[in-house]
Amino acid sequence: MASAPGAERRHIVVGVGGGIAAYKVCSVIRHFTEAGHDVRVIPTRSALRFVGAATFEALSGNPVTTEVFDNVDEVAHVALGRQADLVVIAPATADLMARAVAGRADDLLTATLLTAHCPVLFVPAMHTEMWEHPATVANVAVLRSRGATVLTPASGRLTGADTGAGRLPEPTEIGLLSDLLLARPDALVRDLAGVRVLISAGGTREALDPVRYLGNHSSGKQGYALARVAAQRGAEVTLVSGAVSQPGEPAAVDVVHIDSARELSEEMTARAPAADVVIMAAAVADFRPVGVAGAKIKKGDAGPAPIELTTNPDILAGLVRARAAGEIPARTIIVGFAAETGDADGGVLDHGRAKLRRKGCDLLVVNAVGEGRAFGTDDNTGWILTAAGTETGVPYGSKTLMASRILDEVAASVPDRQD
Ligand code: CTP
Repeated sequence: MASAPGAERRHIVVGVGGGIAAYKVCSVIRHFTEAGHDVRVIPTRSALRFVGAATFEALSGNPVTTEVFDNVDEVAHVALGRQADLVVIAPATADLMARAVAGRADDLLTATLLTAHCPVLFVPAMHTEMWEHPATVANVAVLRSRGATVLTPASGRLTGADTGAGRLPEPTEIGLLSDLLLARPDALVRDLAGVRVLISAGGTREALDPVRYLGNHSSGKQGYALARVAAQRGAEVTLVSGAVSQPGEPAAVDVVHIDSARELSEEMTARAPAADVVIMAAAVADFRPVGVAGAKIKKGDAGPAPIELTTNPDILAGLVRARAAGEIPARTIIVGFAAETGDADGGVLDHGRAKLRRKGCDLLVVNAVGEGRAFGTDDNTGWILTAAGTETGVPYGSKTLMASRILDEVAASVPDRQD
């Protein structure tokens, strides 16, 4: 992906710790160089046991050194930290984080950490026991208290046959969250710790027969971005996902997969009573075929038969009604989305205001769609409307940045509701 015209070339230090996940960091380095940034890779001595310096040099296009005493005339341990706009440490091993907490400077990477004034992103990867050990837990807390961002790792397959928390988040995710910190250094503060967030994302598929369905172009990117950012702000996130066109599940998020609008409705209705915040980012089909053929529909000689449709439940409106009926706690914040094109009856924002009133939710995120906007793209723009009447414009930017702005509004509402 080439950098957008006018995008700033930034100085990024990628510190690589000595863990098996070091090989995945090659894709992260590539993400930065393809965006046009200047990347300096600083591996630890043990990282070089997993990936050779030549690989990092080739990918970054810059020399790679590990020791403070290499190229002393360049005073690299001071220069690299001072000029960095972002330091990404991946994989951040238990040992590397312990050394960062202690303020050690016994290699170029830890020395650089002591001179960096920019945002620092630690991306931990280690075995579950090491991640959950009180020493690591305390080190993570110290790093966060000093202003660093320490991601919660993913759960899943670790080295060997074991599974658990401690897996490096996908390189794409590390890239997206790094870009977010470049745009907004305080974007991943843990202000949603303990908040239970339920999010729907992607498009629904309404079956016609065992092999065909009616669907839509939703990529799921905005809903996935919300899940990813909420989880890294400390929330307990469940993502109910329809069809999406993007790889990888967000780290530290429970993902439930559904196909149809009715399945989505069942999951959201069942899970909403236990949530503090419900966000309907899914593109729900308004209609579904009246019947689903039990066997594949044949072409036949008569030509296509008309497809009779019936209306799907309006899940968002149903959740608002359930809250009014006391089936969902009154303090639950309900967020909707509106994808609008504007027409003879009014502009995008007029339709958004009308939809907020009609649906009765607390926040409505309004996006302009059509002509290549919003659907499937990486960037987004729009407005966040609240039932209280505020209207906040969100300038054009990544869907991850948009997610962080939406969650700001959510975070601002949470304390009001928990009295
Ligand atoms: N939504 C829903 N259930 C549906 C349709 C939509 O919960 N059956 C939710 C979407 O997830 C979104 C919001 O309602 O949060 C608005 O979706 P949108 O498709 O823009 O609105 P519609 O209700 O379909 O209204 P219209 O067709 O008039 O634009």
